[in-house]
Amino acid sequence: MQKRPKIGIIISTTRPGRFADVPTNWLFNIAKQRDDADFEIVDLRDYPMPFFEEKMALAYAPTQNEVALRWQKKISSLDGYVFVTAEYNHSIPAVLKNALDYLYAEIHRKPATFVGYGGTGGSRAVEHLRNILAEEHVASLKHTVHIGMVEMLGMLREGKSMADYPFHDDFAKRMLDHLVWWTNTLNEGRSRDEVAEAA
Ligand SMILES: Cc1cc2nc3c(=O)[nH]c(=O)nc-3n(C[C@H](O)[C@H](O)[C@H](O)COP(=O)(O)O)c2cc1C
Repeated sequence: MQKRPKIGIIISTTRPGRFADVPTNWLFNIAKQRDDADFEIVDLRDYPMPFFEEKMALAYAPTQNEVALRWQKKISSLDGYVFVTAEYNHSIPAVLKNALDYLYAEIHRKPATFVGYGGTGGSRAVEHLRNILAEEHVASLKHTVHIGMVEMLGMLREGKSMADYPFHDDFAKRMLDHLVWWTNTLNEGRSRDEVAEAA
């Protein structure tokens, strides 16, 4: 019998007063209503790793850093991912890039999708993130959510909430439909393990 997939919703910024909790909690509430997967929030604040200072890439030498080991274990325990990401200077937040640099086999051959937020809905960050994840053998999905400046300003300055922008709910549901399909499909594929793990 196929195992029930476990999907992590990763909060990719850590600064005090971050906006990230708004889209994360909104998505988690939608995700919790599903009965075809388990979801959990993974907060980078809980994994304060140093800037990457390993002697070699982790493909060649495992880290000894305790926080990085805990982060790897958490990512390894999950079958698929939603990265909730801001856009910092047209790319992803440095803390997320650093966390990804600490990963290797834990995320290989798993699917990921994205909730971006920012001036252009975080689209430039999301596209950069796809490129980074390609190197980590991650299948990035077409369906995403982009929360733009109009919605952000509405929430930050006019007391609005995600409930005032219900069209995003439909995009989120469709995104999760596809993510669960990919998660099940790649779980099955990895269980056959007919492709040698490639560096
Ligand atoms: C260092 C930094 C760089 C930013 N660069 C961009 C950018 O390139 N494009 C954009 O749309 N927003 C940019 N912003 C604005 C962020 O989208 C906005 O501050 C958002 O709330 C950041 O996410 P956070 O609150 O979860 O940290 C930047 C914010 C910071 C702090």
